[in-house]
Amino acid sequence: MCGIVGYVGFRKAAEVLLDGLRRVEYRGYDSAGLAVRTEKGLEIVKEVGKVSDLEQVARGRNLTGCQGIGHTRWATHGGVTVTNAHPHADGAGRFALVHNGIIENYLDLQEELHAKGVCFFSQTDTEVIVQLLAHLRAETDDMPTALTLLQQRLNGSFALAIIDAQEPECFYCVRRGSPLVLGLGVEECFCASDVSALLPYTKNVVYLEEGDTARVCTKGVEIWNECGEEVCRDVAIVDWDVSMSEKDGYPHYMLKEINEQGAVFRSTLKGRITEGRIDLSNDLDWDASKINSWKNVHIVACGTSYYASLVAQRALEQWTDCHIVVDVASEYRYRRMKADPSTLAVFVSQSGETADTLAAQRKARSEGAHCLAITNVRGSTLAREVHDVLLLKAGPEIGVAATKTFMGQMVALYLLALFLGEARRTLSAAEAKRLAEELLHLPYKVEIVLNRQDAIKEIARKYAEKRNFLYLGRGNTYPVALEGALKLKEISYIHAEAYAAGEMKHGPIALLEPDVPVLVIVPRNSLYEKTLSNIQEAKARHSAIIAVGTDGDALLPHHVEDILWIPWTDEEFVPFLAVVPLQLFAYHAAVLRGCEIDQPRNLAKSVTVE
Ligand code: G6P
Repeated sequence: MCGIVGYVGFRKAAEVLLDGLRRVEYRGYDSAGLAVRTEKGLEIVKEVGKVSDLEQVARGRNLTGCQGIGHTRWATHGGVTVTNAHPHADGAGRFALVHNGIIENYLDLQEELHAKGVCFFSQTDTEVIVQLLAHLRAETDDMPTALTLLQQRLNGSFALAIIDAQEPECFYCVRRGSPLVLGLGVEECFCASDVSALLPYTKNVVYLEEGDTARVCTKGVEIWNECGEEVCRDVAIVDWDVSMSEKDGYPHYMLKEINEQGAVFRSTLKGRITEGRIDLSNDLDWDASKINSWKNVHIVACGTSYYASLVAQRALEQWTDCHIVVDVASEYRYRRMKADPSTLAVFVSQSGETADTLAAQRKARSEGAHCLAITNVRGSTLAREVHDVLLLKAGPEIGVAATKTFMGQMVALYLLALFLGEARRTLSAAEAKRLAEELLHLPYKVEIVLNRQDAIKEIARKYAEKRNFLYLGRGNTYPVALEGALKLKEISYIHAEAYAAGEMKHGPIALLEPDVPVLVIVPRNSLYEKTLSNIQEAKARHSAIIAVGTDGDALLPHHVEDILWIPWTDEEFVPFLAVVPLQLFAYHAAVLRGCEIDQPRNLAKSVTVE
């Protein structure tokens, strides 16, 4: 939930660190800090607030060194104060350390160190790590050994970057349970929580494995595994470029990312449909006997990824004969769900770093399930731990509220559903071909909706001051209603509840009154009339109705106040189009309310702690 960067090379470290922190700021944004090695020793600067606040303070300090570490925080242990911000130092000021993760046994360690006379200044679990490191280093011959011992003493998850004032040519990294990637440049090296911080400098990266310790120098890196043995890790080439993580003239990343959805759709399809057939042979090495051995499909995810999974559940039920279970990872990991070898377990995660999703995967895998990751991040922990990966090709998503990756996840999951249906012969080749052809048309239809932004903004203006909303959908638009309500909550802080339209009479109807608008997804599909009846029920309680409706539906305007129009598509594909006006509705409502769009309060883009 925090962002880490580290640098050693020929540039002014403070500038590289501030630039890197801005790029990982979406991971946490309540306070930030950096430590730079200058001729005066280790200089630490911290500030509460955004990276821009830290920049103001750092500018006044004129930090000249070429080696340093930085951190942007999302508070877990200890409030949001300058003292609790990272980096933390040991009592003697020899080490400065930044941390992403949680140390579960920090109270025991703190007590042990207290007994040895160590004083603590912050309320964080992180300070314990640096104080313990100082002790271990004093008792060992070298830093890698001290770090191996340190790891053995820590329970929990951590990615660490550390500078030692006595080693001017390098810094150290340790990774267990939280992401950390090294960047290799010419006469300079980096570390960061994710590759987006490295993109302006290098595309050559090394993803550290669980338990790795690294010494990062200007000339390159040395790596030891958790047993302290020196190891070689592959260098990967990142296929994102720096322009993908810029705002490109948009006022917010979120708006840019919403507008990229046609392109994301096309790139996630690219190379995966040949001559009207779904072809995943470049991604999945599955033969007929393997595919036919699965009776169950479990799909597990969190947040927006969970809603994409719920949409896919309906498609998988329609096109395959498997038993489909969808669950949130924080529940799945503690349930007695049987995930045996007859189970294909699919883990959907934009970041590939969500702690609960990782734990759920480890559980399913240990029980014998075949594990597939659907993720946007090549080299993420999830991607490295599963049997197979199906990548979204969405490019980096910086806005904390997920938009384009929801689209990419649905595309990837639909490709999987069609592929399984055809391979298991529960979907005829002709029907699969017809559906694949409609998939190829959908990016254009997504762009038609995107071209209607002015109308959506005007409707958002009418309702932006409301305090409560009810969202309704049926069938595969019910999860879209959940996602639309989530977007509104996340960025505009308007309370929104989503229900399956048929459930409205079982409770939420009690909330309806003239000031509570109801947003209903009511495409021209087999459930159209049923949803129209729900609209009548809401209207009878004097609620204003906003509908997502299909172009050409002449009946709908007689029943509702406002309509967010989408083009016609097959019933199965409506979610791809219906979600777009809901994203834009939430975006414009939040802008009109003066909310912080890309970094909403209390949220973090990847939840790397349980
Ligand atoms: C956080 C983010 C959400 C995201 C969820 C799951 O809550 O704020 O936008 O949907 O985590 O993240 P993942 O990376 O696993 O898809």
